[in-house]
Amino acid sequence: MVTDSPSASSTTSSGGLVSVPVIGLRASQLGFALYIRRNQNEAPQLYRSAEYPLRKADLEKLAARGITTLYIRGSEHTAYRNYVLNGLARDDELTPAERYKILREIYRVAFDEAFRADTLDPMIEFTKEFGGALADAVCGNEIVLGDLFTLMEHDAGTYTHSINVATYSLILAKALGIGDMSQLQAIATGAVLHDIGKRAIQLSILAHAGPLNAQQQEEIHRHPTIGFRDIAMRTDISFDSKMMVYQHHERIDGSGYPVRLIGEEIHVWAKICAVADVFHALTSHRPYRAALSARKALQFLDEQADTTWDGSMVRCWIAIMNDTLDP
Ligand SMILES: [Fe+2]
Ligand SMILES: [Fe+2]
Repeated sequence: MVTDSPSASSTTSSGGLVSVPVIGLRASQLGFALYIRRNQNEAPQLYRSAEYPLRKADLEKLAARGITTLYIRGSEHTAYRNYVLNGLARDDELTPAERYKILREIYRVAFDEAFRADTLDPMIEFTKEFGGALADAVCGNEIVLGDLFTLMEHDAGTYTHSINVATYSLILAKALGIGDMSQLQAIATGAVLHDIGKRAIQLSILAHAGPLNAQQQEEIHRHPTIGFRDIAMRTDISFDSKMMVYQHHERIDGSGYPVRLIGEEIHVWAKICAVADVFHALTSHRPYRAALSARKALQFLDEQADTTWDGSMVRCWIAIMNDTLDP
């Protein structure tokens, strides 16, 4: 019997129901229960218990009915994630874009739980696994960027922001010539963590609808320092990843924060993260403004190339996106 109302955005914690994409399921014994929403106005009902196998005919029927989302209990999410990752490792029929989409879905709940945990350990543990999987999905295959851009959500939620900034950082880093997979994994890790310092900022300021006053701005500007302070002594995060957390709001003309570094003083990976960060910020919906189109966001970056942002990185990003976006 389902008593909790499900979250369409899959952000409920254990005990509630979370949505999962049907594309990540295959005909097999699952080891976790599935729920189905038969009617938009009704709560999901039990569809298959953990002991009852999902059959090929079930998947065909779901596809025929246009059902692309089922639900699982949040408390069974780890079992679900392991199940999907095992399947991904064995299934070579999935396209790179499909793999990426599944990864986005299966890590969403774990990210939200780790981000809200009392200590940083779950987040670091999670990020290393997630960063590795993301780097493999984005850089380990010939992925079509147009497909990728279309299936990415573009809201301002913390998870979407982290995964989109990590995805853009990986694409830009690879285009700039960084091909070593362990470096790309560290870039993904740093990018997923880049706003980790926001855990310490009051939600009322983070979710503030409208321009911030000077005091609120000062508070939010603390997040790179807080994030860096929290991870500085860790030996399981590389120095370069730490610099992405600390320096992603520095600007090459010295107008950034927290240190007002200039040009080459800023770590290359932090400059990559900065371009990715502002591109996602501009193209995502905010409570107080509509999202800019990708074209407008590129124009914004272009106007400040060589003054605010690293010009060669901006030009590289524009070239990538021009190939990706429809004319
Ligand atoms: Fe930030
Ligand atoms: Fe950010």
